[in-house]
Amino acid sequence: MARRKIVAGNWKMNMTPSEAVKLVEELKPLVASETVDVVFCVPAIDIVPVVEAVKGTNIAVGAENMYFEDKGAFTGEISADMLLDAGVKYVILGHSERRDYFKEDDVLLNKKVKKAFEKGLTPILCCGESLEQREMGVTMDWIRLQIKSDLVDVTAEQVASMVIAYEPIWAIGTGKTATTEQAQEVCKGIRELIAEMYDEATAEAVRIQYGGSVNAATAADLFSQPDIDGGLVGGAALKPDFGKIVNY
Ligand code: 13P
Repeated sequence: MARRKIVAGNWKMNMTPSEAVKLVEELKPLVASETVDVVFCVPAIDIVPVVEAVKGTNIAVGAENMYFEDKGAFTGEISADMLLDAGVKYVILGHSERRDYFKEDDVLLNKKVKKAFEKGLTPILCCGESLEQREMGVTMDWIRLQIKSDLVDVTAEQVASMVIAYEPIWAIGTGKTATTEQAQEVCKGIRELIAEMYDEATAEAVRIQYGGSVNAATAADLFSQPDIDGGLVGGAALKPDFGKIVNY
């Protein structure tokens, strides 16, 4: 069965609650689609008003992060139950900005991935190499290590339902999109890894996105590759261009 494309916006630390609602109203008609899953991953404080604003549309809401504990003395953190109760379906885990600025490592991310599955949230698990790693020729080794560590004790059925986002760090917010060939090569490598770790059926089912300076001009080419099932979009997700990316 063909995989359904999934295009998610990662709003990062942008949009106050009132700005968020305005943006959703503007984007709603532009991102309508019968063939592509559309997700808005928004800052925690925007989740409640955005869930309300997307009611009755094809837009699902995602969080940008989550903690792995159920509840308790973890000042500033947000639990899976809180997200679910607010109407969230997806959660981005392991974005390179969280790995880099907030020192999230693969041991922590594995706990978060398992908690998301336990509670019924769909993880969008990010991986990607730095420019130095690409130049040293260790891109795939690095990504294999990230994915293998993040998916310890995760079942084939769970992996089949998740989303993996390949985001080369050097392409994020830089205007430098990976070439279509570079993006396809790594996404194919990720699918091969999943086949190796699990089986062919799981590898065929898992959806793999590309992220990093995706825009209205590059989306069609990227998303038409055999192993790229859509995108995780930063800057361009905050503009009407996001409609063009969804309907590439
Ligand atoms: P940009 O599309 O702004 O490069 O961001 C990509 C990204 O990090 C999405 O998670």
